[in-house]
Amino acid sequence: MKLNWPLMENNITMRDLNALIDFLKGNPRLTQSDNVASFEKEWSRWLGVRHSVYVNSGASANLITLAALKHLYGTGEIIVPPLTWVSDIASVIQNGFTPVFADINPKNLCMNDDEVIRKITDKTKAVFITYVQGFNGLTDRLIETLKEKNIPLIEDVCESHGAIFKGKKLGSFGLVSNFSFYFAHHMSTVEGGMVSTNDEGFYEIIRMMRSHGMVRESTSDNIKQKYTEEHPDLSPDFIFAYPAYNVRNTEIGAVLGRSQLKRLDDNNVKRNKNFKLFLKNLDSTKYRTDFDLEGSSNYAFNLIIKEPNSEFRDKVEAIMKEAGVEFRRGSSGGGNQLRQPYLKKIMAENEYENYPEVEHIHFYGYYIGNYPELEEVKILDLCNLLNMA
Ligand SMILES: Cc1ncc(COP(=O)(O)O)c(C=O)c1O
Repeated sequence: MKLNWPLMENNITMRDLNALIDFLKGNPRLTQSDNVASFEKEWSRWLGVRHSVYVNSGASANLITLAALKHLYGTGEIIVPPLTWVSDIASVIQNGFTPVFADINPKNLCMNDDEVIRKITDKTKAVFITYVQGFNGLTDRLIETLKEKNIPLIEDVCESHGAIFKGKKLGSFGLVSNFSFYFAHHMSTVEGGMVSTNDEGFYEIIRMMRSHGMVRESTSDNIKQKYTEEHPDLSPDFIFAYPAYNVRNTEIGAVLGRSQLKRLDDNNVKRNKNFKLFLKNLDSTKYRTDFDLEGSSNYAFNLIIKEPNSEFRDKVEAIMKEAGVEFRRGSSGGGNQLRQPYLKKIMAENEYENYPEVEHIHFYGYYIGNYPELEEVKILDLCNLLNMA
């Protein structure tokens, strides 16, 4: 049976493209301008935070978030999961922090709160959580412990737009949060990302970081005045406060984002329904189906083989290939980052073995596309095929 099922389909629709065409007909300025500002405001309102800064990717959001953190708090240890995207760990290393790893909770694929709390030391500068594949991983215990110890929480929500904890959206709990709008995510601006925060000081640094570290990008007259007075030899238009980057996005992305945001919540409802149907019809003796779905917003189907059996795994992969179902082994980011060459060089040998839950996902976890227009019958057909393995 051919299912012809790509990782993502139709994520930018004709409606989005028509919005863009209408915009382009006005012969507008295409570099960062009014639509970027409006998208940021609308995004902040949707998320429930004060400020957002639109950038050119989720990886850029990670990069400038950690750069700003370094300038505000100095370097030290950052607790991160080995199951995440490469840029979460790369941004930690690139900014001179030491990554400290914590294993995941198999029910939500996010760092286990016990493990995180156990890894906190007096050098911990932040906990950089990744909400994997739409699952919530926050707990009251983690939030309270970090508050008590005055350790900032950074939330990577690149895979979990719209997921909630206790009625509030993920990405509105920490000091700062990061989102991605790459094609294969809940919504897409082709490439794109967002940094969101309630913290005025962090917001101002992030705005400057996005544009070469330039002071005129700040919205604060106090900051601009301070730098201008302290540096009378510099043109006020060209004061660079930080050795930063250009990670701006364009009006084109913002027009697409504004159009997409209007239907994000409806799409998430459809995707969650799809995922529940998928889990309900999978054979729970062969696959894990007991995820903690409360508050989740899943843009992908998680397929995790229950027992570590490589023969069974080969069968499952062959079935999916034969049916034309695109998949990614290792789930988020290809599994255990500690097995990747860039980390093996700097971590203790065989460090990856210390994270058995991530190791299981590395070898026996998959993700498959979950898009709003998936037909029920197709989901049931896929379950039937997988259950025959
Ligand atoms: C958890 C996580 N963080 C960051 C990123 C990076 O986002 P982008 O691909 O937009 O650079 C991704 C990308 O898929 C991701 O899954």
